[in-house]
Amino acid sequence: MPGDSSRSRAWKENPHPRYWWHRLPGNDYVPPVYSDLGEDEWSVLRDWYAETDRSGPIGECAVPLISWLHGLVLGNRISRIAQLGTCAGYSALLLGWMQRRMNVRRGLFSLDLDPAMCEVSRRWITRAGLQDFVEIAEGSSLDPASIAAAQEYLGGDPALIVVDSSHEYQSTLAELDLWYSALTPGGLLVLHDVSEFAGGFDVTGEGGVRRAFAEWRKNHLEAETFALNSAARSMDSPRPLYQDACGVGLIHKPNPRPRDG
Ligand SMILES: C[S@@+](CC[C@H](N)C(=O)[O-])C[C@H]1O[C@@H](n2cnc3c(N)ncnc32)[C@H](O)[C@@H]1O
Repeated sequence: MPGDSSRSRAWKENPHPRYWWHRLPGNDYVPPVYSDLGEDEWSVLRDWYAETDRSGPIGECAVPLISWLHGLVLGNRISRIAQLGTCAGYSALLLGWMQRRMNVRRGLFSLDLDPAMCEVSRRWITRAGLQDFVEIAEGSSLDPASIAAAQEYLGGDPALIVVDSSHEYQSTLAELDLWYSALTPGGLLVLHDVSEFAGGFDVTGEGGVRRAFAEWRKNHLEAETFALNSAARSMDSPRPLYQDACGVGLIHKPNPRPRDG
């Protein structure tokens, strides 16, 4: 409904699994990532949900991760972002609106290997008027040409990389090696789905993002790393501070040390 001031609060009664955050006890307020949107932006997002409710695809991250990114990006004017895994465009829209708020053109490069996902998400980016701010690129995160395309579009190395793609152990390990090398010094790589629960998303059954992150950390002691909710085993267990049972991993690439003397 135009002018709907309740915004996402309406989803509290929606039984679909994608609305799990809104059904948690006490979560009957509009989180800033949605309340911050203009009316026109909110109406695009509401229509995006309505369409993807009807026909999919559904694969977006939820309120805890996008809210964390919202504060991080807007609080630090992060102007070069690469996202690996676009799906239908949820995060691409919200990160794109953050870039527009900061007047950062060509601020988000979002990659997906599935042409159908690129078509859907591009349509929504166009509908949202974000073409000057977001590039929806088709390609594999495992292809070095995708890194070159990201650098070219962003005008430099990404300062923030959000990995939310295959969830397979081997591919994630390869992604981490490739994309960490492209991350600007001082930059941050955010890895969705590092929990034990999300390990089940690995169709190869090899331990998923959790195992890849654990092994990568051991071999990169120079990076500062951190995981939230890595031990979460189910969506139904009691929620710790960070409410997403899929967990999140952080990799901070150090700045070069100042030279002595
Ligand atoms: C979980 S969804 C991404 C959701 C998105 N980050 C959001 O929050 O809106 C994962 C997407 O990654 C894509 N994907 C899987 N493996 C990939 C790869 N190696 N390179 C690029 N995209 C990949 C899939 O096609 C799928 O659309």
